[in-house]
Amino acid sequence: MATTSIVRNEDQFCVYRAVESQGTRVLWELTSACNLKCDFCLVEIKRRHLPLARALEIADDLIAVRVDKVLLSGGEPLLYPGIENVIRHLVAHDILVKLLTNGTVEHPAVFRLIRQSNSIEVSLSIPTVDADEADRIFVSKGALAKIAGTIEALPKARLNAICAVSQLNVGRVGEVIDWVADAGVPCISLTDIFKDPTSPGRFRDDCRDLRIGQDERRMLFDLIGRKRSQYRGRLAIRTTQFAVNNHDECLAGRSIFYVDSMGLVLPCTITDNRDWRNTASRMRVRNAIAFYRQAISGAPESSCSAHLASLPFQFGTSGH
Ligand SMILES: C[S@@+](CC[C@H](N)C(=O)[O-])C[C@H]1O[C@@H](n2cnc3c(N)ncnc32)[C@H](O)[C@@H]1O
Ligand code: SF4
Repeated sequence: MATTSIVRNEDQFCVYRAVESQGTRVLWELTSACNLKCDFCLVEIKRRHLPLARALEIADDLIAVRVDKVLLSGGEPLLYPGIENVIRHLVAHDILVKLLTNGTVEHPAVFRLIRQSNSIEVSLSIPTVDADEADRIFVSKGALAKIAGTIEALPKARLNAICAVSQLNVGRVGEVIDWVADAGVPCISLTDIFKDPTSPGRFRDDCRDLRIGQDERRMLFDLIGRKRSQYRGRLAIRTTQFAVNNHDECLAGRSIFYVDSMGLVLPCTITDNRDWRNTASRMRVRNAIAFYRQAISGAPESSCSAHLASLPFQFGTSGH
């Protein structure tokens, strides 16, 4: 059976989505280029990306090591010139593709492909539903109207909204949830601001300084509880990175991997990765994945572990 994402209320530390198969998930940052300029963005600017032939080799490697789900991200992945070919190649080999887009780039060919294939899901960034505030957060004019247009162009059942919660938008999260529910999108993921502290962010050394405070966290989770009741059966609300749950398990380097825009494989997006970078720098993707699977038996040393230890509260239940 084809892999699909689970759509349900849940609070997890890990930003990688659950899949029914609990299979191998890869976040692949196809390009670091972007048309927007979010201040909280964790993506390091690299100013180059791989030619399509190399990207297709990477796709071949992901197919060869039997990956179940690839999250195609960026930067803005719809700016990668070969995006359509990469998606087609992965989907043709039964890999579930999740496109993580800011929703402001129109790409008719890819949108057509998404409408045709149940193996493609899309996550759109929606940090606010106030048009002026959206322009301030994205540092671009007319972003919200473009996102609304993208939602209309795509099959709603396969959409997910991502709202990164920061000091810039914490007062607007309730409105974002209402807007997403009214738009007929079945799931929203709220995520705390995170970053591997050993690599630079896009515009600031550490974007985690935009995180919300303790009181705001408590108020946010009260709001989430109310909204889950209000939209039961219509909208799933997921949270990631805010706190640890007793069923959380780190699978970085075993069934979770991160491929950067130069084709370097790391155990996870936010794993404290300097040593791994050196180790895997010359390995091709299939060899690096095989290496990690053999070398990593438990949760690897990571920026998560430091963060986990400092968390002020833990969830006792899964928050359904
Ligand atoms: C890095 S972006 C790449 C894809 C696309 N450009 C977009 O914005 O959706 C993927 C997701 O990460 C979120 N994000 C960016 N920086 C973040 C940070 N420091 N902490 C948490 N989420 C972040 C974005 O809001 C977006 O939903
Ligand atoms: S979060 Fe996404 S849209 Fe915003 S600057 Fe980063 S890559 Fe671009």
